[in-house]
Amino acid sequence: GKVAVLMGGHSAEREVSLMSGAGVLAALRRAGVDAHAFDPAERPLWELAHARFERVFIALHGRFGEDGTVQGALELMGIPYTGSGVLASSVAMDKVMTKRIWRAEGLPTPDWRQVASVADTEAAFDALGAPMIVKPSREGSTIGLTKVVRREQCTDAYRLAARHDPEVLCEQFIAGDEVTCPVLGTGPAAQALPVIRIVAPDGNYDYQNKYFSDETRYIVPCDLPAGEEAAIQALVLAAYRTLGCRGWARADVMIDRATRRPYLLEINTAPGMTGHSLVPMSARVAGLDYDALCLRLLAEAALD
Ligand code: DAL
Ligand code: MG
Repeated sequence: GKVAVLMGGHSAEREVSLMSGAGVLAALRRAGVDAHAFDPAERPLWELAHARFERVFIALHGRFGEDGTVQGALELMGIPYTGSGVLASSVAMDKVMTKRIWRAEGLPTPDWRQVASVADTEAAFDALGAPMIVKPSREGSTIGLTKVVRREQCTDAYRLAARHDPEVLCEQFIAGDEVTCPVLGTGPAAQALPVIRIVAPDGNYDYQNKYFSDETRYIVPCDLPAGEEAAIQALVLAAYRTLGCRGWARADVMIDRATRRPYLLEINTAPGMTGHSLVPMSARVAGLDYDALCLRLLAEAALD
């Protein structure tokens, strides 16, 4: 039957989603799937039902795609889709809510404050110390994010983040190794893939260095001690299960340089599938090439 690859959309990560979607679409077509591009910014989603699509591959990132809204519409239309269901998608999009749940479950995540003003942000800086990350709660790809090292930066940092989301989060910066780890599968079959260590120019893994730089290095298989990699995989799997994720996801983790303890930053329920993206790199090391990965994700498309 016909498969729609949802891409583009209305979020700030539209450009990234178009790159992910183009990759997924080409892969599915190479495998003989009757796959079609569908941009919900250009066509109303309910056309999916009228055009009799049987399954959907969600290659949307950010709000109105990764956040449970599109998942809810697909539930109503009865069209199975890749990735997490409504609740897990919507919780994972909200970094504050995600951190509350992880902390309540005893999973390590950097200390944080939710802020609603510049004054709150300055108070958070006084409490959390420097450096501090200020970012929109429901955004991706480091959009709207500032690493604050001086108190005077709080004003601009808060205003920038608040332009993207009224819900703004201040988070203690963990200095150390930046790693990421995908999970594939559902329920008891869910498995963590190889951990990737990311080495960005000047330690700055921002939008440019994520999608366009050829200088960012991705080390996979990673060069961490085997015990550390296994501990991260176990932590990420617990983070995935705690939120009730399904299909796939990728959690971003910082390892404290001094203590070697890992801290969960966030989990992405519709991770990037661009030429620079991380899940495909990790899957390849696990023996699953890009096309096989897309087919596997599609095969696990489901309803809640
Ligand atoms: N939010 C981007 C797409 C990612 O996590 O890969
Ligand atoms: Mg993200």
